[in-house]
Amino acid sequence: MQPHHDETPHVPGPSLWPVGFAVGVVVLLVGLIVSWTAVVIGAVIALAFAFLWVRDLTAGTELAHAPEVAPEHAVAATAAGDDEAGEATAPATDRYPRAKFLELSTLGLGGVIGGLVTAPAIGFMVAPAFLKQGTKDHNIGPLTDYPQDKFVVATWMSDASQGEVSRRTAFVRNNGQINGQPSFTIISNHCAHLGCPVQPNGPLDEKDTKKFADVTLIPTVSIAGFGCPCHGGQYDTEGNRTAGPPVRALDRYSFSIRNGNLYLGKPFSVSHVDGSGSGAKIHKWAFSFPGEHVNGIESWLYPVQPPH
Ligand code: FES
Repeated sequence: MQPHHDETPHVPGPSLWPVGFAVGVVVLLVGLIVSWTAVVIGAVIALAFAFLWVRDLTAGTELAHAPEVAPEHAVAATAAGDDEAGEATAPATDRYPRAKFLELSTLGLGGVIGGLVTAPAIGFMVAPAFLKQGTKDHNIGPLTDYPQDKFVVATWMSDASQGEVSRRTAFVRNNGQINGQPSFTIISNHCAHLGCPVQPNGPLDEKDTKKFADVTLIPTVSIAGFGCPCHGGQYDTEGNRTAGPPVRALDRYSFSIRNGNLYLGKPFSVSHVDGSGSGAKIHKWAFSFPGEHVNGIESWLYPVQPPH
């Protein structure tokens, strides 16, 4: 028997859609390292080419229609078929090509299995880094505990339920007022090289240590910047790098004042600071991990940051 013409395997012609789809996926994955903008662009490219690919595959899959045959001719043709093959031939009916069905069902099943495998991996391994992160504003004591123009070493627990392991440190200086608004310089003690704890370059006035809830405040006598014990990184009193391997200035904290108390807000990164005190111009960037450039072409080389 000759195969029916509808049984001819459907072989799609050469197409660039799979290549475009692959390019979109690559851009999306690279975007996860580089920036959210690239993630969105990659997703759009992948979806657009996936649509074109699927449309190409499904083109020409309309039900194959047998040509209209007049009833008397159909009877004659059936009789002729009986004579030649020795058995009855089924009348022509609408059919869906078997090869096409297998092709699409294989692709669809592969997509479903791929989704079932990758969705849990994304859900359990990647998503937690982006969910329930962030910091709450933390009360670090009354304004009266921060004498003007002096740094105070403030430590507090970022998560009291985890105990001392969550203790954080910042150097806080009351700059007085500017335009009627209180001004504070609040510098993180995380070295901008590899994150070691930076120390004040000067003596502390430990006898005047104050405690407030989980907060400890130790005034400094007089300091000449900050130094890192790990690799010798040095910073001035605005947190600008002055020597050693750090690639940027020390991070800072935003702040607010409520009911006469100073509250720490979110940390942010700083490339450098012009000026000093209440008149300083802070070149502020999104929070970045130690060792990362925040500006310039080098800043393109680091992965997307989860919320902090
Ligand atoms: S971690 Fe501070 S200089 Fe290396």
